Amino acid sequence: MKIIERELLERFKHYRQAHVFRFISELDELAKTEFLRQADAINLQKLSDKIRALVPVNKKYIGLKLEDISSQVNFIGLPNNESDERRWEEAYRIGEDALRDGRVAILTAAGGQGTRLGYKESKGILAVTPVKKKTLFQVLAEKIRFAEIKYGQKFHWFLMTSARNHEEIVEFFDQNELFGLEHVHFFSQGILPAIDFSGKIMLENKHKIAMYPDGHGGIFNAFVSSGLFEILERSNIDIISYFQVDNPLVRCLDPHFIGFHIKQRSEMSCRMVIKAYPEEKVGIFCTMYGKTAVVEYSDLIADFIYEKDTGGHLKFRVGNAAIHLLARDFIKSIGDDNAIRELPVHAARKRIPTIDAHGNPIEPESANGVKFETFVFDALQFAENSLVLEVDRRENFSPIKNLQGIDSPFTCRQDQLRLFTRWLLSAGAEIPVDASGLPPFDIEISPLFAENKRDFLLKWNALKSKPAICSGSYIS
Ligand code: UD1
Repeated sequence: MKIIERELLERFKHYRQAHVFRFISELDELAKTEFLRQADAINLQKLSDKIRALVPVNKKYIGLKLEDISSQVNFIGLPNNESDERRWEEAYRIGEDALRDGRVAILTAAGGQGTRLGYKESKGILAVTPVKKKTLFQVLAEKIRFAEIKYGQKFHWFLMTSARNHEEIVEFFDQNELFGLEHVHFFSQGILPAIDFSGKIMLENKHKIAMYPDGHGGIFNAFVSSGLFEILERSNIDIISYFQVDNPLVRCLDPHFIGFHIKQRSEMSCRMVIKAYPEEKVGIFCTMYGKTAVVEYSDLIADFIYEKDTGGHLKFRVGNAAIHLLARDFIKSIGDDNAIRELPVHAARKRIPTIDAHGNPIEPESANGVKFETFVFDALQFAENSLVLEVDRRENFSPIKNLQGIDSPFTCRQDQLRLFTRWLLSAGAEIPVDASGLPPFDIEISPLFAENKRDFLLKWNALKSKPAICSGSYIS
């Protein structure tokens, strides 16, 4: 152990990061071993490259000029005439065939810390449905289960956790017996050290380096290096349906989307929503240097946020719903150890709990350091073929980001109620609603009954006796 310690110290000295060892003589054997293990896992060369590339950290990371980026994005809009309808139906059939053939797996990014939500536990454990108070994880699991029954396949579901929530998530699934699914797999995303504004690695406490998840772009490396990726190769799965854990309206396995992805031989497909208002916190699709790209909302300068086109619409209005389909080999081409494709690193100034020179804790009140993250959508630049497909926001998108106000559990619950009510009204049920389509009481439709309107109508119409809908109704 001594030798490793000396070697490590030399390595850290070489990169001018030896200060992290300054409390090592005070640590007991156990803490020391843990500290050395943590230090050893840091790729100092890569970190130092990141730090060097960090010059613009005080500015917005992109000093984008209007010439660099165009609001024009090629996307397939929702159908609004008969020929569109035929195209969407054809895609639906192709997508269903792929599902029946077992070509699709699911990948969920659940590694984030949910800082904005201020929720102590992992976000997926948040109770979200109106009547049964099901958690996000349960809703997603039941949607997958519904598809399993419908398509006669056992789908593989891969969940990316992070060091900060891995055990909690695995335990939660164990307690719930994997919600009746057979093929649920977990892997942890990478972590990267935070640095202060002079480029020095920060300590969280005397025996712990301040390490944070490396962003959902970490999914490529972590998935391939976890060994789980081989399941895809063994099982002839070539399409991976990716989404974030925070959106219970997402269609985990959407035949339309899968069909378009296959038809266009896309390597990375994306779903978009038209921005609801200029400040909505969604990334925006644009064309950058001739390729489809996403610019994150936090990087979008104010001139772009409010700019209107000649028709009076927001110019940059094609929002990122964070729902993608990824080709298996495309994932490998980025995530493989020998891959030359590397996602750009985004640096964010953050408040990072740390210690002072004497080891006393500091809870900073303003940003005191930088965290590094990569983003999954930055992979678009590597795709030979990509596509962007519009999604009906009301049926597919209501993410939970904040504890209160917009994009909160409250707004998401209302969106679910409107959705359940819309389905029931289309099936001929009678429910009073306000101008926004909201019923005066709580109801819920289980994804195990139907996880989309089309299947709901089929199943509901086939019911011999229809249940009366009233406060607390749960259709399962
Ligand atoms: C994200 C997208 C944004 C999109 C919006 C739609 C990013 C950077 N931006 O914004 O373009 O329009 O969703 O809702 O993602 N996560 C991990 N590991 C990490 C970091 C995040 O698994 O290291 C997961 C989180 O659990 C979360 C999701 O990724 O579910 C999104 O992360 P978040 O930081 O909340 O991104 P948003 O700001 O919501």
